[in-house]
Amino acid sequence: MRPPEGSGEPQGGAPVRPPEGSGEPQGGAPVRPPEGSGEPQGGAPVRPLEVGERVLLQDGKGRRYLVTLERGATFHTHRGRLPHDQLIGAPEGEVVRTDLGQRLLVVRPTLADWLVKMPRGAQVIYPRVLALMVMAADVRPGLTVVEAGAGSGALSTALLQALGAEGRLVSFELRPDFAAQARRNVETWFGKPPERWDLREGDVVAGLGQVGPVDRVCLDLLEPWLVVPGAAEALVPGGVLVAFVATIPQVMRLVEALDESGRFGLTETSEAILRPWHVDGLAVRPEHRMIGHTGFLVSARRLAAPWPAPGPVR
Ligand SMILES: C[S@@+](CC[C@H](N)C(=O)[O-])C[C@H]1O[C@@H](n2cnc3c(N)ncnc32)[C@H](O)[C@@H]1O
Repeated sequence: MRPPEGSGEPQGGAPVRPPEGSGEPQGGAPVRPPEGSGEPQGGAPVRPLEVGERVLLQDGKGRRYLVTLERGATFHTHRGRLPHDQLIGAPEGEVVRTDLGQRLLVVRPTLADWLVKMPRGAQVIYPRVLALMVMAADVRPGLTVVEAGAGSGALSTALLQALGAEGRLVSFELRPDFAAQARRNVETWFGKPPERWDLREGDVVAGLGQVGPVDRVCLDLLEPWLVVPGAAEALVPGGVLVAFVATIPQVMRLVEALDESGRFGLTETSEAILRPWHVDGLAVRPEHRMIGHTGFLVSARRLAAPWPAPGPVR
């Protein structure tokens, strides 16, 4: 249960979940009609491609191009030209041909497609890691999340999408040029400024205390251990801190800071590796080229009261 207001405990953005089977509704999503009821099961109605939309074109060799549809404009490759007007009004998922006969598959980009193609200032977190991070932090609609640094806005976008319309994200970014890039990227993806997004230029270490109680803290910065004391104060009991770091010395310093604070438990560290496979007839094998290293995720839960955590075994 939440502590009463004014008890000194952070209040956080999310209501306390009722126990499973209590009959209380569990979330904000509409309940799907039962199978066989005749109701359509999918979410969005089918929409033809429109002027101003971004589309992803993929050629036979798997090369991908992100294009914004404009009346009268033309997409050029070394294998021909494709007038945008041929795509406007067409359904997503079609195969079209350039004037030289090259086949191109046309789809709307997924969030992962957009995040790897969007303009960058700071190095982004890749979609494979973002997926793990959103799950490790258990981000869901209605929560209040603090993120730092916003960088190019890849993590901000993934968090905003997971938080939905009822969630709230406060992002900190030290550098004004990166903050501006993050804002452009986030607004381009959502088509407008997200109402429940508060992007603050400044140092998260100094600013976290002014946000109020928060449910989650998600970090992608050089020295996440500096944020641990502020996160311990801001997070609600049971709240989650997740940090992405690139090196093992960073993992060690962060885990030490979490342990020494006495305010966190259930600390876990994992490495984010995804091995893509080539599947073509009998040629079924790992891809020859892969990203060998992305980074590590460290997660921990905020405890209700400080405890003397056992020291690490050395
Ligand atoms: C690797 S980038 C973050 C990229 C971002 N997660 C994304 O996916 O686009 C790290 C960012 O943290 C910012 N930063 C570093 N220390 C910070 C701090 N104490 N407060 C706020 N931002 C910070 C840097 O300016 C940089 O833009």
